[in-house]
Amino acid sequence: MKRIALLIAVSISMPALSGAQTLRQLADSRGIHFGAAVTLPTGANLAPYESTLSQQFNTSVCENAMKWQNTEGTRNVFNFTAADAIVDFTLSHGMYMRGHNFVWHSQVPGWVSNITNRDTLLAVMKNHINQLAGHYKGKIYEWDVVNEAIADGSTGFRTSFWYQRIGADFIDSAFVYAHRADPNALLVYNDYGAEGMTGSTATKSTGVYNLVSGLKTRGIPINGVGLQSHFNLNGFDTASIGANMSRIEALGLNISITELDISTSNTTANLDAQKANYKSLMTLCVHHPRCKTFITWGVNDAQSWKGAGAVALLFTGTTTITAKPAASGISEAISGVSSVWQVANGRPGVLRQSHLGRFELNGSMFDLRGRKLVALPVP
Ligand code: XIL
Repeated sequence: MKRIALLIAVSISMPALSGAQTLRQLADSRGIHFGAAVTLPTGANLAPYESTLSQQFNTSVCENAMKWQNTEGTRNVFNFTAADAIVDFTLSHGMYMRGHNFVWHSQVPGWVSNITNRDTLLAVMKNHINQLAGHYKGKIYEWDVVNEAIADGSTGFRTSFWYQRIGADFIDSAFVYAHRADPNALLVYNDYGAEGMTGSTATKSTGVYNLVSGLKTRGIPINGVGLQSHFNLNGFDTASIGANMSRIEALGLNISITELDISTSNTTANLDAQKANYKSLMTLCVHHPRCKTFITWGVNDAQSWKGAGAVALLFTGTTTITAKPAASGISEAISGVSSVWQVANGRPGVLRQSHLGRFELNGSMFDLRGRKLVALPVP
């Protein structure tokens, strides 16, 4: 009797499965952390920015606010004010927070890069990770632990001060410190120019692959590889990016698209080509079961790190923010993949593949017995 009452109630309020869903709703339906790098603007730009962020994305990452120079500019004096504002906004809007980053050679104060003693530098690294991971424990689902440690056009290590003063094991230590500080967070190695397996990215992506497979073999607690994905229209080879994703998955590691932008100029043809590339990359992500994070490096073109006149992201404008063709590319990619549904918490193997016999309510999917469904990744 109760069940019948529930069914009547939900069928009356059932929204149509239409193309009018936001990118956030679509990403939620597939369990993808779909996000943007956040720098909160000021004045009249703030309200439209915040509403676009919270309506279209389910995840944030601080564009700069969690970096070393902004959190520990002076040794052991921590300042979380700017980052806290972004984290508070994100969590209060029911969104997820990603952490960026603990250990990088850039945007790090001189007092760190000038340390010459290996043990001192390791102790400073450990304290920094402990403080950041500790402050945000339970609020951040995934951290970039080490950023950009492989050299460009090489399979070898970047000769950063970390590598020179500590050695390659600075990476192992960073992951171990991070795991101890927040055992529940997913831990990621993040790099750029290592997305595909052909052309200019071939060598470096093999360097990243070798690094993370070595970490896995040694039992270092790593959960995933971050593909930054700063592209332009030409540097985009979908098949080889897919092949790289597959070999990362075969290691038992997740794939996070961490900093996506696709730079071009503002012509109709280029905006369409940009849309096609955004769509291709999201299509790859929904076809790779371990691709669970997909983040653009900014909300709107006006705030892109690519500078004035940048045409790189999904949205345009400042006081009024509108979706570009690229945003439709994302929604077409997600809604264009047919889903396999499983009863949430149901017995493994009990699959419901039908598009009949299920309905959507408030962004969640239910079967006709009112049981909540989860979308399984499409193989
Ligand atoms: C960039 C920010 O977007 C800029 O605002 C800042 O001036 C420099 O850093 N790889 C990374 C990011 O991991 O942290 C960088 O972000 C872009 C390249």
